[in-house]
Amino acid sequence: MGKRFYLTTAIDYTNGSPHVGHAYEKIVADVIARAHRSLGDEVFFLTGLDEHGLKVQQAAAEAGLDPQKYCDGLAVQWKELATRLGLSIDDFIRTTEPRHKAVVAAILNRLHGAGEIYKAAYTGWYSVREETFLTEKDRNPDGTWDARWGQVVPLEEENWYFRMARHQEWLVDYLERNPSFVQPQSRRNEVLGFLRSEKLEDLCISRPASRLAWGIPLPFAPEWVTYVWFDALTNYLTVPASMGDPAATAVLGPDYQAPAPVAGTSLWPADLHVVGKDIVKFHAVYWPIMLHAAGAPLPGQVLVHGWWQKDGHKLSKTTGNVVDPIAVIDEWGLDALRYYLVRELAIGPDGNWTDEGFRSRYNAELANGLGNLLNRALNMLNKYRDGIVPAVSDELAADARTAVADTERLLRAHDLQGALAAIWTLVNRANLYVEQTQPFRLAKDPAQAGRLDVVLYNLVESCRILSVLLAPFLPSTSARIHAQLRLDEKPDRLARAAWGGLRAGHKVGAPEPLFPRKDLAPKNPR
Ligand code: MSP
Repeated sequence: MGKRFYLTTAIDYTNGSPHVGHAYEKIVADVIARAHRSLGDEVFFLTGLDEHGLKVQQAAAEAGLDPQKYCDGLAVQWKELATRLGLSIDDFIRTTEPRHKAVVAAILNRLHGAGEIYKAAYTGWYSVREETFLTEKDRNPDGTWDARWGQVVPLEEENWYFRMARHQEWLVDYLERNPSFVQPQSRRNEVLGFLRSEKLEDLCISRPASRLAWGIPLPFAPEWVTYVWFDALTNYLTVPASMGDPAATAVLGPDYQAPAPVAGTSLWPADLHVVGKDIVKFHAVYWPIMLHAAGAPLPGQVLVHGWWQKDGHKLSKTTGNVVDPIAVIDEWGLDALRYYLVRELAIGPDGNWTDEGFRSRYNAELANGLGNLLNRALNMLNKYRDGIVPAVSDELAADARTAVADTERLLRAHDLQGALAAIWTLVNRANLYVEQTQPFRLAKDPAQAGRLDVVLYNLVESCRILSVLLAPFLPSTSARIHAQLRLDEKPDRLARAAWGGLRAGHKVGAPEPLFPRKDLAPKNPR
């Protein structure tokens, strides 16, 4: 096995419960993971939790729990979310695991040994809430500190610094030569704009353990713990290294006790990091510089998504403006959630969740669009031909071919919204075909039997192709379509979307609704 397509999500802080924004990122990454598998790639998909740092320490203290116990409790909830979202993950990392602590220690030692880390005294201002040092540039014009910094206190302490500033020019050059490293383009411009206009400072990568105990000790100075972002970013390297991937262990140097490689472990460098717009700087500036300084090959791409709001306002537990992904799944089903999130919002801009918008897409596109098509196709085939597939014919073949080619191209470009739109051109085309050909009329006229065969074939074959195209997006719906078509092979290979796959004589099953219509069903039937 060659190098696998290795993709990751951001790892979530264990300081609260998941909301739909977290679910969105994981679903986007899952669709990409499944799309690559469908295109024939070997894939490794990683997600997990970011458990150290002040935010988590404070949340644990508020809950009156020891931080580890607190994280262990939340980890159960977050892993449950990964299961309920149907994530096809290959591993789930928690930054409190020994395998991660070993890799953080190793990369710190490596950079320290290479002269990239030094100790210096710091006197200045510190935001307790944001866990970050502030400079005079961060003050409001009137000299006060913005409310977002929370409590700002004067601080004098010794810390350890990573020589980030010296790599600025290299990074600008790297970004210029690799236009796809940060996507979409608008985010790339933002990063380049920032790097061209501001001078990078060295990065403080330690916190005195006396002030913040909840972290990974610096291996060469255990009175300090590692800055949470340095710790968290390293998770992407932890998993390949702890599986013995030679390209990952090479980054860590001879001190790292590299395990024997697990068969088929060729992961590093990561191909894709899917992250939200608020953490671009960490992924597109700190992370590539950390890797470059350690002599490591860089990831292929940082793909940046926007943020969800609800009804035009920020998601917030305090105001109750939240969408609980589990509640949506319980009421509408997982695939309805996956569909809405990916179809409504392109990867990049911000999105706005409305319950009405959700309901409307569900009814129009899932129930009346896709669900109705399958229902009609199978119903008529059962009613008029005992469920037996007629001879292959190709009236919709060209439309299907266009949808397949567009979907493939858009999936390769990670334009998931565009791919769903392309798939729905076939859904709509096939539904229109029913209106145009009127098979229920043809069925009444024995002289039209041949024509009816043609129509029925084109409808069921379109449904089969749709199940293949939909596999990355709506895996369980895709499997259900296949089951109703009584097909044995799996729909999860794009190569199976070639026209003519359904053979004459094959017997399909009975239709079962994919998406029960919600507007018609009374909520509390009496
Ligand atoms: N722990 C860091 C990430 C470390 S990655 C090495 C973190 N955690 S987080 O829990 O605050 O956010 C996790 C991801 O969820 C981020 O990519 C963030 O952008 C995303 N989202 C948080 N709220 C969101 C929305 N409202 N909408 C979409 N994504 C959102 O940052």
